[in-house]
Amino acid sequence: MSIQRLGYLGFEVTDVSAWRSFVTGKLGAMEGAVTEAQAQFRTDSRDWRLSVTQGPSDDYLFAGYEVEDDKALYRVQERLESHGVEVKVEGADLVAKRGVLGLLSCADPFGNRVEVYYGATERFEQPFVSPLGVSGFQTGDQGLGHYVLSVQDMDAALSFYTDAIGMKLSDIIDWKLNAELSTTLYFLHCNGRHHTLALAKLPGAKKLHHFMLQSEGLDDVGFAYDRFDAEGALVTTLGRHTNDHMFSFYGATPSGFAVEFGWGARDVEVGWSVVRYDRISVWGHKLVGRI
Ligand SMILES: [Fe+2]
Repeated sequence: MSIQRLGYLGFEVTDVSAWRSFVTGKLGAMEGAVTEAQAQFRTDSRDWRLSVTQGPSDDYLFAGYEVEDDKALYRVQERLESHGVEVKVEGADLVAKRGVLGLLSCADPFGNRVEVYYGATERFEQPFVSPLGVSGFQTGDQGLGHYVLSVQDMDAALSFYTDAIGMKLSDIIDWKLNAELSTTLYFLHCNGRHHTLALAKLPGAKKLHHFMLQSEGLDDVGFAYDRFDAEGALVTTLGRHTNDHMFSFYGATPSGFAVEFGWGARDVEVGWSVVRYDRISVWGHKLVGRI
């Protein structure tokens, strides 16, 4: 028994109000519950999918993986513990804060917090309406989207996220960042989404390289591209990735890591085999900004 999908992501950010403007005014997600130190955002019928909490790091804070019910949660706990991972069964306070029915937490080999839960809160009585007219975000069986972590020890990272958490390798890309620097990206899936998590040894101190939201339409990407371009916030041009075929661009967030805004990815299907690539993009994704 492994996790089914990515349910939510949390970031620690120095400027919560900048993030509120960014998520609603550039990404087109919808604001949920807000306090002075925290804001939650919706991308679908769920009560929340993204969370920002005030703090100094401007980086990854937690990821929440979903399982189907309490029995599945217990089996994930057993699986983690059998791989030597210390698991905490979270109490009523955090369970209520996340709006779930049951919650476990643990840390990956680098101290990154990973949560596993079941029983998220649905909010069909308050339909998702994008403040910018985004036609929708693809979630459902494939979960929130994906994220990319920078890790220093790939063997330890793969052992945790595949053996203990239960994800499977989709493919790898040997990525030449520039004349001096090359790295290998490992793409992991836990459902039909080509990758929910990618891992790479990347330069820079941030744990989070980027997170990705997948919109329902090609024009959603185009409109978002124009919004980022208008404020000089593009990190790359439009492009299409070699492995998941995502049509996307990368933009800057208020915290220094990037966001990928995409559409049109292909799914991992029955009979999938691991392959490798030499390029991250078929075309485009030319670097025009900094992250
Ligand atoms: Fe991505």
